[in-house]
Amino acid sequence: MMKRLVLVLSLSGATGAHADAVADVWKAKCTVCHGGDGKAQTKMGQKESIGDMSRPAWQQSRTDADIRKVIADGDPRNSKMKPFKDKLTPAQIDALVGYIRTMKAPTAP
Ligand code: HEC
Repeated sequence: MMKRLVLVLSLSGATGAHADAVADVWKAKCTVCHGGDGKAQTKMGQKESIGDMSRPAWQQSRTDADIRKVIADGDPRNSKMKPFKDKLTPAQIDALVGYIRTMKAPTAP
C-alpha cells in the first residue's frame, strides 16, 4: 500500500519536472524574442517580423524536422536566430519542438 503510493508520487514528480524543464528552457532562451506564447509580440519580434507560432497555418506548414533544424542550426533567412546545437542537448531541442507544438491556437486566424 505505502510502496504503491510512493511509486505514483515519484512518477508524477518525474513528468512534472520534465514539463517544467522545457518551459524553463523556452523562458530562458527563447521568450525574449518569440514571447512566452510563441506569438513574438516582443521588441525583437516586431523589429524582425518574427512569425506567430500559434497560428494553425504556421504549425501546418512546418514539419517537426523543419523546426528542429532551425533550432539546432539557426535560421538561414535571419541571422538573429542563432544555432542552439552547442547550447542545448538533442533531447532539449526535441522537447522544444514538442513545446512549440503545444502553442497552436485552437481556432484558425
Ligand atoms: C535573438 C532573438 C531570438 C532568440 C533568442 C530565439 N529566436 Fe528563434 N527566431 C528568431 C528570428 C529573428 C527568427 C526568424 C524569423 C522567423 O522565422 O519568424 C527565428 C526563427 C525561429 C524558428 C523558425 C520559424 C519559422 O518560421 O519556421 C524557430 C522554430 C525558432 N526560431 C525557435 C526558437 C527557439 C526554440 C528558441 C530558443 C531556444 C529561439 N528560437 C530563440 C529570433 C530568435
